[in-house]
Amino acid sequence: MSRFTAQTLLVRKNTTPLVCLTAYTAPMAARLDPYCDLLLVGDSVGTVLYGMDNTVSVTLEMMIQHGKAVVRATKHACVVVDLPFGSYEASPADAFRSAARLIKETGCNAVKLEGGETMEETIAYLHKRGIPVMAHIGLTPQHVHQMGYSCQGKTAAQQQQLLADAKAVEAAGAFAVVLECVEESAARNVTENVAIPTIGIGGSVACDGQILVTEDMLGLTQGRLPKFVKQYAKLGDTLEASVVRYKEEVQKREFPSAEYCYRIAKVKAVDAA
Ligand code: KIV
Repeated sequence: MSRFTAQTLLVRKNTTPLVCLTAYTAPMAARLDPYCDLLLVGDSVGTVLYGMDNTVSVTLEMMIQHGKAVVRATKHACVVVDLPFGSYEASPADAFRSAARLIKETGCNAVKLEGGETMEETIAYLHKRGIPVMAHIGLTPQHVHQMGYSCQGKTAAQQQQLLADAKAVEAAGAFAVVLECVEESAARNVTENVAIPTIGIGGSVACDGQILVTEDMLGLTQGRLPKFVKQYAKLGDTLEASVVRYKEEVQKREFPSAEYCYRIAKVKAVDAA
């Protein structure tokens, strides 16, 4: 099976919903790859793996290292890497330099950036220069200091802005658009009025695909989760129970038992020199 690309995902509009998850490391990416159309090396790596308060401190170097690991470990999913805050907003030329590093140094298929109308010129600039772009509108975590983490699309004005943003990124050449934490009717309205796939995270089943942060859906994240996260497993509990057992066995000298030890019947005599 060959790798999905921006081109092959673009034509999946109005077909089977796209299955997308985040991945930051090789072992996790290898496990997810056979089941996912798209793997996002999201800047959520900052909060999920590095314990940061938000995503604004994530650097381009971090995204490159995690992007390389995910590309190396996969062969099926389209790998998209996030452009981190501060690496693309100042000018289209800045965005090109950062995006070109992500593409060249990681081998990823596409980049993602946050913003709608305000990023139209930048997306067009990247698109014309051969860089596939996935856009991200609605709740945009890199703007946390201005917008917080509240649901978008609840007022008529917000709904209009969402549609304008989606149309702007589509016109600029984005191959897909993430709708984060968007009220259902607004997500449906956007999805029905653009020709590119919409990928929802808290955007309802109206979207053309879904994405979640993998650690959230596996039950590995501690603390409060957004309403839109469904936990498909409680791996955090399994992890703790395993460590508790290991601790008990180590302290009682039950581990390592014979099967985990190297034993010989008789020590060999030292070879003569
Ligand atoms: O960084 C990320 O994980 C994301 C998803 C929430 C879409 O942007």
